Amino acid sequence: MAYEAKNFESLLGTKGFSDQLLKNHFTLYQGYVTNTNKVADTLSAMAKEGKTGTPEYAELKRRFGWEFNGMRLHEYYFDNMTKGGKEIDKNTNLYKKIVADFGSYETWEKDFKATGAMRGIGWVILYYDGTEGRLFNTWINEHDVGHLSGAKPLMVMDVFEHAYMIDYGLKKADYIEAFFKAIDWTIDPKMDSWIE
Ligand SMILES: [Fe+2]
Repeated sequence: MAYEAKNFESLLGTKGFSDQLLKNHFTLYQGYVTNTNKVADTLSAMAKEGKTGTPEYAELKRRFGWEFNGMRLHEYYFDNMTKGGKEIDKNTNLYKKIVADFGSYETWEKDFKATGAMRGIGWVILYYDGTEGRLFNTWINEHDVGHLSGAKPLMVMDVFEHAYMIDYGLKKADYIEAFFKAIDWTIDPKMDSWIE
């Protein structure tokens, strides 16, 4: 089954994000969906044709996680946002866990933003490691380096330059502030009940 690009146009008009920036970003995202399908199809055809011992097969295998995560992380990112934002419910397990693991919500937020302010391109992910019951603000280099195996991504922020430069130039911190104002903290009760 081929992956299909989701429609995030309801985000157009989000404060702090120009339509031009968002539209470009949606187009980039759609490219990852197209390439994820292309690479998956090519790899499966090569496997059937007995071409697995080739350098072309090896390079496409290496590329797959990059394309797939480029697709999926954008979906998490746009899903994380809503026009006007929605504050976190202090009665959720997630909020209580943030306070327990980081000392306070404010300390968590400061750490998440500081991770995003790091030099380089990639993503910041608030991950929940269900095995030990711990939260981590994690730096992901590009799309594929630094993920925590088996952990659940709860909040995802794009810090590639394409996510902000059209609107903010080099002022990455201003973009991060705008993103925080647009965060949709709606938490799926099923997911929340998993957090201890
Ligand atoms: Fe992006």
